[in-house]
Amino acid sequence: MAGSIEAAPPLWLLAELTYRCPLHCVFCYNPLRYAQTGAELSTAQWVEVMRQARALGAAQIGFSGGEPLLRDDLEELVQEARSLGFYTNLITSGVGLTPARAQRLKHAGLDHVQLSFQDSTRELNDFLSHTRTFELKKKVAAIIKQHDWPMVMNCVLHRHNLPHVDKIIEMALELGAEYLELANTQYYGWAWLNRDHLMPTREQLEQAEAVVWRYREQIGSRCRLLFVVPDYFEQRPKACMNGWGAVFLSIAPDGLAMPCHNARDLPGLQLPNVCQQPLAEIWQRSAAFNAYRGEDWMHEPCRSCDERHKDFGGCRCQAFLLTGDAAATDPVCSKSPRHDKVLQLVRSAPERRHIPIVFRSDAESRSL
Ligand code: SF4
Ligand code: FES
Repeated sequence: MAGSIEAAPPLWLLAELTYRCPLHCVFCYNPLRYAQTGAELSTAQWVEVMRQARALGAAQIGFSGGEPLLRDDLEELVQEARSLGFYTNLITSGVGLTPARAQRLKHAGLDHVQLSFQDSTRELNDFLSHTRTFELKKKVAAIIKQHDWPMVMNCVLHRHNLPHVDKIIEMALELGAEYLELANTQYYGWAWLNRDHLMPTREQLEQAEAVVWRYREQIGSRCRLLFVVPDYFEQRPKACMNGWGAVFLSIAPDGLAMPCHNARDLPGLQLPNVCQQPLAEIWQRSAAFNAYRGEDWMHEPCRSCDERHKDFGGCRCQAFLLTGDAAATDPVCSKSPRHDKVLQLVRSAPERRHIPIVFRSDAESRSL
């Protein structure tokens, strides 16, 4: 199939600068074996990636990780991205965003910052990240505002903090966030390992969503509240990545190019590396980017489904994790013959909470 489809250009480049991170979040979306991957790209290699991606048509860049502030060359990369014409986003835990660093990033032309919190309470924030970072994050939020950056606050939701949604919204308002992304946990990476501990009840979700709606009416456009769907509780899957190889291009710290940041865990995909192949060739012709592009790869029930243009058959990573087949219909869909697996995982989660929580760490990652 490789090379058979002329793809539209990518719009969004996710530059995962490093898998290193000072936090140990139980729902980290980095691959489980991140500590077993190759050396990080150099500054010059990242600059080359950005040039090629921009020439391909990418317009937005997200500097992410791990913690991108651990790279000393972040300012240089932001400056280069800006001069290439990218809209630049920093996706950070906040650790390392000192006033001096913020000043330099502003000078480099950084457009936008996304800051993550784990909860509105110090106890839960610090427990879930296994670090004492709550107060620091609040200081960083103030630094972001002092520099006039639009701020997205991001908080991953699960059964431990769903009852705090009102407090999380209040905190976002107090800190001056323009957007609050209330991201119900997606079960990949470390969240997949800790799924049973994180799985909420339907009642928790319904109550939290009602709170969100109430606040939306109260606060209007002062802070936009985004409630990312808890897809294990839905009847239809999300349109993951807006379709495979459609708009999203992720580059891992070691230069692997991926149509989705979790693609490293999919078996049988020969992921290309930007050190070995031009990006345009990777995007247009590589087998990995064409594997689930378009509709030719679909099986029933997706193949003849009249909703396939809306959700593209759902998420390939989720299909693989839940069925062992990345080309299967995402089992979140009620039309999938494996939908019962999702219902059963939700129902039986409380029975497996005796299994210890696994915090993300290099040692754990090396042992997996
Ligand atoms: Fe989407 Fe496939 Fe379900 Fe149809 S059967 S709604 S295309 S996941
Ligand atoms: Fe990989 Fe959805 S997370 S395709």
